[in-house]
Amino acid sequence: MKGRGEKITMLTAYDYTMARIVDQAGIDIILVGDSASNVIAGHETTLPITLEQMIYHTGCVVRAAERALVVADLPFMSYQVTDTGALKSAGRMMKEAGAHAVKLEGGAVVVPAIRKIVDAGIPVMGHLGLTPQSIYKFGTYKVRATDNREAELLFEDARSLQEAGCFAVVLEKIPASLAAEVTAALDIPTIGIGAGQNCDGQVLVTHDMLGLNQDFSPRFIRRYADLHTVMTEAIRSYGSDVKGGAFPDTSEQYD
Ligand code: KIV
Repeated sequence: MKGRGEKITMLTAYDYTMARIVDQAGIDIILVGDSASNVIAGHETTLPITLEQMIYHTGCVVRAAERALVVADLPFMSYQVTDTGALKSAGRMMKEAGAHAVKLEGGAVVVPAIRKIVDAGIPVMGHLGLTPQSIYKFGTYKVRATDNREAELLFEDARSLQEAGCFAVVLEKIPASLAAEVTAALDIPTIGIGAGQNCDGQVLVTHDMLGLNQDFSPRFIRRYADLHTVMTEAIRSYGSDVKGGAFPDTSEQYD
């Protein structure tokens, strides 16, 4: 697709019903993101979600996907301790959940783990820029790589990930000009989130782009629907119909 100049679409899903909609709507890649930790479990960061929980979510998504590639995030501490541990985690994601590929965060430091996973026949997607599993190291969710030193480091990391065998790399919240340069320099596709127009593809958290989440509105999110309002109104109507005796009516009961 990169070679053809065709943009790659990626959206998150964590459950069967949402994954079915995303798959049937023609999205290329479904990401079972560790953002499930925030979106589904209500945690402040992505750190608490466990490998077992990610395997559960990935299995739900895999059962729904008939055409999209399903990429599963390896959660915090499931690949950083040892390279063998990283391979075991990736292997469980493939065997127990049926994922088609895994994603993990970081640059040169995770290259040995990536090599081991790729050598075992498991496709790996990289993730650079704002890597939420390192939030306590960064201290903020601000744009990354705005200074030359960090930008150069990110460039080197992107090349290392490609050399290590990653089939694609997510670039999160970095300047658009840097993302464009990295995209032009790599043979593998870049998938951007808050990284401008020139990436080979784009990813958003589905709950954000559908407007289900009202508390989070950075500038890179475009809201394609206001499902928070739609759902709130529907649920209120149901509540008032039940209280007022309008639901169920005689056509909605059995004789
Ligand atoms: O966990 C996630 O949803 C992600 C995307 C934001 C890229 O990693």
